[in-house]
Amino acid sequence: MDTGKKIPVILDGDPGHDDAIAWTVAKASNRLDIRAVTTVGGNQTVEKTTYNARRICALLGIDAPIAKGNAFPLMSKPMTAGNFHGTSGLDGPKLPEPDRPLSGYTAVELMAKVLRESEDPVTIFSTGAQTNVAALLLTHPELKEKIGCISIMGGGIQYGNWTPAAEFNILVDPEAAQTVFQSGVPVQMCGLDVTEKALVMPEDFETIRNIGNQVSRIVAEWLDFFMIIHKEMGYEGAPLHDPNAILSYLYPEIYDIREMHVEVETAGLYTRGCTVGNYGKIANLGVLEQPNVRVVMNVNRGKFVEKLVEAVKKYDGREVKI
Ligand code: RIB
Ligand code: CA
Repeated sequence: MDTGKKIPVILDGDPGHDDAIAWTVAKASNRLDIRAVTTVGGNQTVEKTTYNARRICALLGIDAPIAKGNAFPLMSKPMTAGNFHGTSGLDGPKLPEPDRPLSGYTAVELMAKVLRESEDPVTIFSTGAQTNVAALLLTHPELKEKIGCISIMGGGIQYGNWTPAAEFNILVDPEAAQTVFQSGVPVQMCGLDVTEKALVMPEDFETIRNIGNQVSRIVAEWLDFFMIIHKEMGYEGAPLHDPNAILSYLYPEIYDIREMHVEVETAGLYTRGCTVGNYGKIANLGVLEQPNVRVVMNVNRGKFVEKLVEAVKKYDGREVKI
């Protein structure tokens, strides 16, 4: 039942063009109250993703505290994706400089503080590796009950994108993802099954650009940059992964979501980072039959784009010094 109260949320990610657009959508929603922003390494080093997070918050007017997350995954070496997001991790349009210092907390400390202080369950939107979220669950098991949902972009039941088996966010930190998926906390997973269908076409870029506010111009230029490599890879549109973690939570009716048991492979030579889903057709597996994740498998693409446009229009009248 919609009580009209805003839902307290934490944005955790590795901005990253699609993280930045996901945060644009989150800030535009009158149903979400952003209580903290935390960063992980992934698209770029955590130093760079943190600087990007601070600039995005200055652009959008997100005044929540910001904390830098772990520089390293739980048990593996850092990986970056400069080929997709550029040297800065957010190449393309000029952005405002940060408008305030970091919070002084680590990501886990800030997440725990938000959970402790919140009257209502907090939703964590995680659009990078699960390192901070797993570290939070491991160091503060007593706060698990304060998490209403962990809505992630990550994984792929049918295929990967960094290896044939593994999607990038999960592969950066498979142990962290397995910790989150087996935690008992409600998890909603937007993997490549849905995000590769959430294509934003070049004509949609122009629809967004023509909204005409400062944020719309910058979002369109983020899409322009993000499309460069995807065009070279043969995509007709930009697969906008991360906003699905927000929009599938806010508008489940435009998605196809299935309850599934999902395990994360952490040991395979070729399959490390694979999200192995049991559609439920394989019976008699005992615990592996018990669903533990709401897996988002499809989206109405037109409605997805509509929600993006709606969100960007909310920034009419906002202009910051760049
Ligand atoms: O595989 C896509 C994911 O990896 C997205 O979250 C993108 O931002 C990168 O983090
Ligand atoms: Ca991301």
